[in-house]
Amino acid sequence: MKRLLLIALVVLAALGGLVWLSNFGDDTRVHEAAPAAPPSPEQVARGAYLARAGNCMLCHTERGGAAYAGGRPMETPFGTVYASNLTPDAQAGIGAWSVAQFRRALHEGRSRDGRLLYPVFPYTHTTRVTGADADALFDYLRSLPPVNKPNRQHRLRWPYNTQAALAVWRTLYFRPEKFVADPARTPEWNRGAYLVQGLGHCGACHTARNALGGSEGMDLSGGLIPMQNWYAPSLAADNEAGVASWSIEDITQLLSTGTSRRGAVLGPMAEVVLHSTQYLEPGDVRAMAVYLQGLPPAPTDTDPRELPRAGAATLDRGGRLYERHCASCHGEQGQGVPGAYPPLAGNRAVTMPSTSNLVQVVLHGGFPPATRGNPRPFGMPPFATTLSDADVAAVLTYIRAGWNNRAAPVSELEIAQQRSSVRR
Ligand code: HEC
Ligand code: HEC
Ligand code: HEC
Repeated sequence: MKRLLLIALVVLAALGGLVWLSNFGDDTRVHEAAPAAPPSPEQVARGAYLARAGNCMLCHTERGGAAYAGGRPMETPFGTVYASNLTPDAQAGIGAWSVAQFRRALHEGRSRDGRLLYPVFPYTHTTRVTGADADALFDYLRSLPPVNKPNRQHRLRWPYNTQAALAVWRTLYFRPEKFVADPARTPEWNRGAYLVQGLGHCGACHTARNALGGSEGMDLSGGLIPMQNWYAPSLAADNEAGVASWSIEDITQLLSTGTSRRGAVLGPMAEVVLHSTQYLEPGDVRAMAVYLQGLPPAPTDTDPRELPRAGAATLDRGGRLYERHCASCHGEQGQGVPGAYPPLAGNRAVTMPSTSNLVQVVLHGGFPPATRGNPRPFGMPPFATTLSDADVAAVLTYIRAGWNNRAAPVSELEIAQQRSSVRR
């Protein structure tokens, strides 16, 4: 018995050492570099472009606050994390940082003083950003007006507020990584892979997370975004958001304008298009499209014949609600209006197994992003106060079963649960 205990203690100590080493072991002190010559305007412009590709501003700007001055709260299942001030203020921002410290933050998720950062900052993806791109980002951020706004203290529950918990998390789910181009692929495919897996951090939403907020692998196979009730569909599955069967033009149109003849982007994806992908150069959007189109297809397992069927009374009620509230925009046959209202017939956003986004859009309405390609988008009104839970369930069941759509009914309970949980 004593021996067992001893062995257990030795194993624990070894594990502790491993966690420590993998997080702090290689702390080669990052020294202050001598101040370099001011960067060229081209370099600053390049950094600004890369910051768009990484959507850095969206997270690092508080609603109504100065750009990049931080303070935006991000809800996680473990508490609230506040994004940092990235303006070049010497006390509150990154004014006193060296370029090496900045690179280390992107590549290893460590702050200036070596503190481990929370992976809400998608360093699990920015770790693949090249050194040259990191430097351009740094030069751009240093060109902004400094804002003296101190960082806010995160509000996380124990033990998640400890560096030890982060160290364990990182041992399980994070390895610093370099992007390695695949010589068997075209330069265009590799550029797309670099943008999607790195700066674009698409997998931060489009990959499932476990109870510890970790994701295994970079497979873009879809996941529920914690705390938001939005489901980021699989970018590999044909019955979700896989684009293997789309034309390159449809994909680039979706990423640069927010709409396409296949459907419109919603919720968090509308923000990605609004703040990031609409600004990318045509060559970069195309590269992403080529990469997404070539993702290995994931198996789709639901056989429509095995799905539960909706009762006739529900379908009848849903049909009447559809006529009254939806058909004027989405069409009698769910065909939509090209360029204005997305079709609902044959639309995977309607038929995919997860119903979270459907409930979101019907309860809260929405606007596709305003983009150069679609400057004055038509919106959808919210129905949260007009329709009861049973109504929403019936109308969604109807659109999922109508016009050759074949998807399972939606229950009143699902609507009630989503209505009562926080929406951001
Ligand atoms: C999804 C939201 C999100 C995005 C996108 C994002 N960040 Fe952050 N970032 C955060 C949060 C939250 C923190 C604070 C983490 C912490 O304190 O543990 C942070 C911290 C940082 C830090 C460390 C600052 C410090 O004082 O320690 C740097 C540097 C940084 N981000 C740079 C960037 C850059 C550059 C980009 C774009 C390529 C970017 N971030 C994109 C959320 C984000
Ligand atoms: C902040 C979370 C988030 C990030 C980051 C994100 N997505 Fe999404 N994405 C979503 C959600 C949620 C949806 C489902 C809503 C919708 O259909 O627009 C979605 C939907 C999509 C769709 C399907 C749209 C349609 O109408 O069929 C594509 C394609 C897509 N995302 C690609 C990307 C790419 C490429 C990136 C990286 C540049 C990315 N996403 C980054 C959350 C995100
Ligand atoms: C005034 C016109 C209008 C009405 C009425 C309307 N919608 Fe919409 N609907 C839209 C627009 C515009 C969008 C795109 C919203 C976005 O991108 O955020 C949309 C999006 C959707 C989507 C998501 C489609 C996709 O491709 O992602 C669904 C599902 C939907 N509506 C269902 C309904 C239902 C059900 C009703 C009736 C209860 C309804 N709509 C009523 C205009 C309308």
